[in-house]
Amino acid sequence: MLVGKVAVVTGAGLGIGRASAMALAQAGASVVVNDIDGAAAQSVVDAITAKGGKAVAVAAAIGTDGSAEACVQAAVDSFGRLDILFACAGVLRDSVLWKTEDAAFDLVIGTHLRGSFQCGRAAARQFKAQGGGGSLILTASPAGQQGNFGQGAYAAAKAGIVGMMRSWALELARDGVGVNAIVPTALTRMTATIPALAPHVAALERGEPLPQSLREKGIGTPEDVAPLVVFLASDAAKGITGQALGIGGDRLSLWTHPSEPEIRHAPGGWTAEGIAKTLSQAMPWQVVGVPMDFG
Ligand SMILES: NC(=O)c1ccc[n+]([C@@H]2O[C@H](COP(=O)([O-])OP(=O)(O)OC[C@H]3O[C@@H](n4cnc5c(N)ncnc54)[C@H](O)[C@@H]3O)[C@@H](O)[C@H]2O)c1
Repeated sequence: MLVGKVAVVTGAGLGIGRASAMALAQAGASVVVNDIDGAAAQSVVDAITAKGGKAVAVAAAIGTDGSAEACVQAAVDSFGRLDILFACAGVLRDSVLWKTEDAAFDLVIGTHLRGSFQCGRAAARQFKAQGGGGSLILTASPAGQQGNFGQGAYAAAKAGIVGMMRSWALELARDGVGVNAIVPTALTRMTATIPALAPHVAALERGEPLPQSLREKGIGTPEDVAPLVVFLASDAAKGITGQALGIGGDRLSLWTHPSEPEIRHAPGGWTAEGIAKTLSQAMPWQVVGVPMDFG
């Protein structure tokens, strides 16, 4: 599906990035495997090359200046071009608002939001220099779509990524670049830190099969996420842009854009009293929070 194409995957040393890098290589792409952990990146390169694929490692911290450009440059230097950039690198520093330190906020925003911005920009410049075409795949999260307890910074970064994705889809349409976000759910080192999911990560690590009920709720392995990345990277996804697509376990979904489920008008404008009266009627109040019923 991807023979002759060249991909960069950030945060590809573990989890969803690793599974996607392996799947992209399996589909025929040459892959730049980035991770902040150089040994982890190299082990994925070794796994890809052991299977006859082509890959190089770039050890760099996404979100720091020059790292995105280094990944794109490695694609050009090693494989001659860039067709796909999957920005997957991520960290969690969960804490409630009043306990969140500036450094934790900055790390989460820096890695996810700034990192995705810099990766998107580096890829866009290369895609344009090549004369157009290309696939930019960003990584969002249910937390960014719905909010999640203890994940204010992370939710802000992930919601911001979806906002950038929609804007870039418009900006890069003329160049034929598809820009989409995946909204994955998978049992990984990252989700092992979420109490509702921790026992399932432990069970998976013990080699136990995942209960079907969990898979139906969208919780599976990183390998369950990878096919969406391969599809979005391929020519079969041509024309799909500006979308947030959910994947996890047995589920594939399309997220809506935020919309206004209720609109009222007051000729000449609103008073606070008028607003109070209107909002005292039944309203389609929006439920916040990611459902966590994974028992
Ligand atoms: N697992 C889920 O259910 C889930 C849900 C929603 C979103 N996501 C997102 O998917 C992506 C991958 O998550 P995962 O669950 O596979 O996590 P993971 O912890 O298993 O893997 C993340 C990888 O990113 C690397 N990394 C961290 N900071 C980096 C940096 N600055 N530069 C380069 N590499 C860096 C880590 O070393 C690790 O190899 C993240 O963006 C995450 O926010 C995951």
